[in-house]
Amino acid sequence: MTQFLTLHGTAVSLILELPEGEAPLWRYWGRRLPDGVALQPIRASRPTPSFSLDFDQPLSLFPGLGVGWFGESALLAHRAGRDWTFQATSSAVEQDGQTATMWLTDDVAKIAVAITLNLDSQSDVLTVSTTLTNLGDAILDVQWLAAGVVPLPGDACEVHSFGGRHNDEFVPITDQLTRSTWRRENRRGLTSHACFPGAIVAAAGATYGAQLAWSGNHRQSIEWIDDGRFQWQMGEWLAPGEIWLAAGESITTPEMLATCGIDANAVAQNFHSAIRQRITWPGGKMKPRPVHLNTWEGFYFNHDEAALMELADAGAAVGIERFVLDDGWFAGRNDDTSSLGDWWTDTAKYPNGLRPLAEHVTGLGMEFGLWVEPEMVNPDSALYRAHPDWALATPGRPGITARNQLVLDMAKPEVSDYLFDKIAALLKDLPITYLKWDHNRDLTTAGAQPRYHKQVEAAYALMARLRAAFPHVEIEACAGGGGRIDAGIIRHTHRFWTSDNIDAVSRVSIQRGFLQFMPPEVMGSHIGASPAHATGRSQSMDFRGAVALPGHFGVELDVRKLDERDRTKLAEWIATYKAHRDRMHHGKVWQGDGDDGLLWQAHGDADGILLFVYRVAPQSHRHAPLVRLSMLDPKRRYGIDGIEYGGAWLVQHGLSLPPLKAETSLMIEVTAL
Ligand code: GLA
Repeated sequence: MTQFLTLHGTAVSLILELPEGEAPLWRYWGRRLPDGVALQPIRASRPTPSFSLDFDQPLSLFPGLGVGWFGESALLAHRAGRDWTFQATSSAVEQDGQTATMWLTDDVAKIAVAITLNLDSQSDVLTVSTTLTNLGDAILDVQWLAAGVVPLPGDACEVHSFGGRHNDEFVPITDQLTRSTWRRENRRGLTSHACFPGAIVAAAGATYGAQLAWSGNHRQSIEWIDDGRFQWQMGEWLAPGEIWLAAGESITTPEMLATCGIDANAVAQNFHSAIRQRITWPGGKMKPRPVHLNTWEGFYFNHDEAALMELADAGAAVGIERFVLDDGWFAGRNDDTSSLGDWWTDTAKYPNGLRPLAEHVTGLGMEFGLWVEPEMVNPDSALYRAHPDWALATPGRPGITARNQLVLDMAKPEVSDYLFDKIAALLKDLPITYLKWDHNRDLTTAGAQPRYHKQVEAAYALMARLRAAFPHVEIEACAGGGGRIDAGIIRHTHRFWTSDNIDAVSRVSIQRGFLQFMPPEVMGSHIGASPAHATGRSQSMDFRGAVALPGHFGVELDVRKLDERDRTKLAEWIATYKAHRDRMHHGKVWQGDGDDGLLWQAHGDADGILLFVYRVAPQSHRHAPLVRLSMLDPKRRYGIDGIEYGGAWLVQHGLSLPPLKAETSLMIEVTAL
């Protein structure tokens, strides 16, 4: 009798059919089914259509090429032109609670595959990854190995993904799903601003989401298949020749995180819960996210010790809790043309090293953080002069600089040892509790044999090694702002720098995209100067404050130069953040569009929410639109500004708002009574 494997989450279920000696067949992944659904084997439930193979080939967990599957294969590999097909000749399943491992062996192609699926019942996120082992004698050249393959229902109609560039991350892209394959690929060597490794798919009655936990190249596709469903594959994009497995060698893909729910907000909440579980906090638990003061836009490379001490004084006075010394502190770094790699203090700027500044900061009760860009080297640096061969290069090709820098070959042990020693010396010598870890370029010449994959693994390994040696240190992932935001690096880090664009109008949409996949407590969001450096637009302190507030809040301007009014307002926003961060950083998030261009987001739970309403463009309707608060409990009563409302009224009718001018916002507390 055919066996089935069922995993139930809280609101999600999956069912795989386990025919003897074959890869498991996908029967269901979607909103939760009742326990004990009676199932017929798929082949018993559908006749063979005309002009079809006599042996039906439904979508499996690991569809293989060349043996009757005509859709995209989960594997593209060969041994010097042979062994290019894949079909399991034996299979086995092991289930341990919410985790199932599927073992597939192909005795013909001499390949073993292990697919691990975990459906976490707390988050409802399915995590899938695949390990492939070369059982043959000759090298197996792997061109594609899906991290995961999941089915989507035939009524899936629209896919929402995100593009962008430096200063313009999370640009929404909407595509219709048709019988043409939908595909997005990233070949920039890091997560990239241009293509977030994930997407959201809308279907009738359910919304699906997936993201790849990887900080390098990636590829995803959604393909219509013969039975009217779609298959969604996600994995690392591999350059030709990148993965050559010798006899007995294995490769494990990054994890694919996939979930579904009633709408995009449910998907976001599930992702937030899963990401929260992936973060390892110093001390085992997230402490309240401290208010940052980052020196970059206030000072750029013009470090002046006395001025920075004054900045720290001014910051402490308005309530700053962590002072992050950005780029410009190390040997000879006066602009972006030199010194990356020379990770020791510039004694011209800091005659007695960084200790006086660091101790000044900690003496004021703030933490001290430092910017580094470990994977990079400027040709004009002591490091490059000593070790030009440490830069990643492709023989015969010119080294291509970006922001005047080259990339170090991180997989060379001498490179990672050098970086570990240099950063460890700083962490040992100084009271540093935070590193902002940058990566300011895409990868180009990536080795004689492509080393994109190795580069990511080596960067993770260096982070892990530093964290093991200095467990009290938090790390922020940055790559020219939001070029390295993904569920892979978050295992080693604690914050993302969301964008170098701090203009509050731009940030509204950037942060909305971010929050679809990542929780607010890891979303670096700062109050910047007005006019904003990235765009030249000016916004009030109140608008800048309200937009930055729901994330991991910070300030990135020269606090000393604010006039009295703005400085007071800034201190008020900092106090407001401290009063609400607990709810914002532990609760759920809902985002919505009101009518007439009004955008809102709510943080909290049915006991109460903090509602942010943003008006970016001027109102065009005569009256402000209503905001329906569907997350509230219709049976409860709520208080807003001293007025009592029935939950059902707020859920079904909505909350009336006053008119708002462009680039203004409202922050409303809704409390269950
Ligand atoms: C990148 C970061 C900025 C800043 C600069 C420093 O652009 O995103 O926040 O750290 O590098 O050079």
